[in-house]
Amino acid sequence: MILVTGGAGYIGSHTCVQLLQAGHQVLVVDNLSNSNVASLKQVEAICNRSLIFCEADVRDHRRLEDLMREHEVSAVIHFAGLKAVKESAEIPVVYYDNNVGGTVQLLKAMQAANVRKLIFSSSATVYGEPRSLPIDEEKPLSPVNPYGRSKLMVEDIIRDHHAASPDWSMAILRYFNPVGAHESGQIGESPIGIPNNLMAYVAQTAVGRRPHLNIWGDDYPTADGTCIRDYIHVVDLADAHLAALNKMQQPQLLTLNVGTGRGTSVFEIVHAFAAASGRDIPSVVGPRRAGDATACYADPGKAETLLGWKARRSIAEMCADHWRWQESHPHGYDEPV
Ligand code: NAD
Ligand code: UFG
Repeated sequence: MILVTGGAGYIGSHTCVQLLQAGHQVLVVDNLSNSNVASLKQVEAICNRSLIFCEADVRDHRRLEDLMREHEVSAVIHFAGLKAVKESAEIPVVYYDNNVGGTVQLLKAMQAANVRKLIFSSSATVYGEPRSLPIDEEKPLSPVNPYGRSKLMVEDIIRDHHAASPDWSMAILRYFNPVGAHESGQIGESPIGIPNNLMAYVAQTAVGRRPHLNIWGDDYPTADGTCIRDYIHVVDLADAHLAALNKMQQPQLLTLNVGTGRGTSVFEIVHAFAAASGRDIPSVVGPRRAGDATACYADPGKAETLLGWKARRSIAEMCADHWRWQESHPHGYDEPV
């Protein structure tokens, strides 16, 4: 049984689909603070298989320990956490409590239940403003906001824990920019409130929920003046977790970038999304957003060498799949049925 914390969320729900389809049994623990249990119903419908859901908080380590014992959990994929950069600067203690405190409690529960395999959701944000590109895993780590620092703190805790308990198998996956949705259109990203991330905002503009996209600056030193990121299809990202899980039979500590290695500008995303959706994306160029790096993309070579995993899906597929979900669920899982 694989325990997926935060499994009702965006990346977690897509990973549950890939896990179930690969024949794993899945136990989801989620407090539903940023998700809707409807996502898990959809996961079950896509796979025609059921999973076990428990509404609980990862900071409740006794509950987690009981669940791990009861369901004979063999490995944990830990997605549960808060992820909004701006909010993390407004309520940092809440972020450290949830992201750092939550992981500490989870590790305590794993120790008590003798579960020794963990995959952790880290982020490219731990690199901060990159000094050279592409970014490999040895690049300096210097996050620039409390969210990023919470991810780095958890990475440090994992490194310390593994140094003390080298018989564990642990993987730190640093995601670049996850976008897209399952090809069925039945699950996808369902942001609460106004989205911060580009693709989610573009999609809501295309469907008419937002009057226009604000492009945060076109005066960057890039070919078209807008920022460059490494967008990765969420199903490719989910597959990276399965590949990591398959490599975790031996004790080890893996730290891997999960990206495509390709950089795409904001304008390129807007054009690709307009082509995929056949909709206009009205856009207004505004000032730069504080804290944005000019360009950020991965060297994903280590994941390919060690896991045999490589992102396969193109920007066109990311936009087409994101649009299929957005068009059929304009209000995400809150859509009245
Ligand atoms: P999400 O908000 O959709 O999913 C996170 C899930 O965790 C939600 O279902 C939420 O209800 C749950 N959760 C939060 N705190 C919890 C707690 N204390 N106990 C139990 N459940 C809790 O976010 P996502 O985009 O799926 O991200 C998953 C993970 O990947 C997060 O850790 C995030 O920081 C990380 N990450 C995300 C991105 C991204 O751009 N989406 C990029 C890099 C890393
Ligand atoms: N952008 C706009 N308008 C918007 C939203 C975004 O122009 O409405 C631009 C941004 O300025 C940036 C690019 O689109 O140049 C991508 O922005 P996102 O917010 O989608 O993604 P970021 O790379 O800025 O950061 C996000 C998270 C980080 C995380 C990173 C990689 O906020 O914490 O993805 O996972 F590290």
